[in-house]
Amino acid sequence: MKKMKKLVCMLLAVLTVFALCACGSSSSDKSALQEIKDSGVLTVALSPDFSPMEFVDSSKSGQEQYVGFDVMLAQFIADELGVKLEIQAMSFDACQTAVSTASVPMSISGFSWTEERAENFELSDYYYAGENETEQVLLIRKDDADKYKSAEDFDGVDVGAQNASLQMMMVTEQLPNAKPYTIGDIGVGVLELQSGNIEALAVAAGNAEMIVDSNPDLMVCEWEFDVKTEYEANVVLITKGETELLEAVNAALQKAYDAGYYGEWYEEAVELAKSETAMDLTIEDDASNG
Ligand code: ARG
Repeated sequence: MKKMKKLVCMLLAVLTVFALCACGSSSSDKSALQEIKDSGVLTVALSPDFSPMEFVDSSKSGQEQYVGFDVMLAQFIADELGVKLEIQAMSFDACQTAVSTASVPMSISGFSWTEERAENFELSDYYYAGENETEQVLLIRKDDADKYKSAEDFDGVDVGAQNASLQMMMVTEQLPNAKPYTIGDIGVGVLELQSGNIEALAVAAGNAEMIVDSNPDLMVCEWEFDVKTEYEANVVLITKGETELLEAVNAALQKAYDAGYYGEWYEEAVELAKSETAMDLTIEDDASNG
């Protein structure tokens, strides 16, 4: 009887070890980098409402429609890892949720470095997207040029900014008497400004230039936000703890920087954004003429 008990115990021990081994090789234990290499696909989340960083080329469809600086950067990183790139488009706040819950390993979407993000994510080294975020501004309607000239002019007024963005943080910190108004999509924010639902929209200066280019009824307010140097460049957002992936991304960024690609990519993206605008305007002209 004692022998029997010993045998059962041994059997249980063997089974436990077996079960543990099986768990150990399950995919959830693989690092994100290993998973990307094994599947041959790098999935990147982005919010394509932020030209010239990421926007939609309306003449294309499927994966091809997502264009801009960050898409070129994402493609470069995928090439460096030797895998295919898959873009998953979603809202800006959803990009951050998706990375923090590890449903995608990374997001490249014009993210500024912020203290809060540094706590919740692995943040890559800086990459430089031209002058896009060296200045942060407010878009207003041209008709209001004389009405809004200083920070105090926005006291008690609705000022829009994208949800979970640096711009929203700046509105609450630097325009404490304005009424912050959360928008999900920058394109929708532009419409809300044009329709008079909000009085101003906080955006990055490079982005503002692209928006004014296609919306001649809007202009940049002469009052600007104060921008700390650490907010001027962008970072890639990676799931917390995925340090191997972080290192691989940083190595790719260094390579792109050394090769001088950032400047080229930015110029190409601005040109593309402007031609997209030109196409939009022609379509509108045709419609009004016919
Ligand atoms: N740089 C700003 C931030 O980090 C705005 C980025 C917005 N990006 C976008 N794809 N909508 O909050």
